[in-house]
Amino acid sequence: MSGSARPRIVVLISGTGTNLQAIIDARDSGQLNINIVGVLSDRPGINGLQRAADAGIHTETIDYKRSPSRTDFDSRLAEKLAALQPDLVVLAGYMRILPEDTVSAYTGRMLNVHPSLLPAYPGLDTYARALAAGETWHGTTVHFVTPTVDAGPRVLQYRVPVRDTDTEPQLRERVQQGEYLIYPRAIEWFADGRLKLNDGQVILDGKQLATPAIVESEE
Ligand code: GRF
Repeated sequence: MSGSARPRIVVLISGTGTNLQAIIDARDSGQLNINIVGVLSDRPGINGLQRAADAGIHTETIDYKRSPSRTDFDSRLAEKLAALQPDLVVLAGYMRILPEDTVSAYTGRMLNVHPSLLPAYPGLDTYARALAAGETWHGTTVHFVTPTVDAGPRVLQYRVPVRDTDTEPQLRERVQQGEYLIYPRAIEWFADGRLKLNDGQVILDGKQLATPAIVESEE
């Protein structure tokens, strides 16, 4: 980031874009002093693209299903991303694994939100797996992205108690409310220069975070 310019943010999405919406709303409310220079999608026609368009944000779709090969898709995405010159890349429900060279190009400048209390439950179906295991807590984690999926240094977690009666949609709803709180907050820390990754260690306000910062739901 150069001087006092607003950091350039690119958001990658694959779906409904409710986290993208939370970031747009935080920008519009003045919480986030950022410039969302683009939203990239791997699927056409998704709600998240409409949300971006409604907010006047530049969008591009690299349609995975119409790509001649995985390599072609990966290199086109990397090119589009590089052309937007992001200070920070934000994965917000982006469902495709990025190749190692793309991740490495943005070390310390790429964040993801994953719906579990990492390192528990990396991968898919976290709500069903947590319920099946009888967990008493579930939640979501904002972390820096590294080549190993869902294993990057953790920044901030939102914890939710699991109710005996919880169904998957009910638990998801409460966890996602937490995402809309913690993802903009982590981006705010980054934009304000408070959050950094240094040799694989998360630094917040000049101090190493040995464990992620935690926000607990108020239930
Ligand atoms: C989020 O809940 C996030 O945890 C996961 O994918 C979901 C995307 O939802 N990575 P949305 O597209 O932001 O509504």
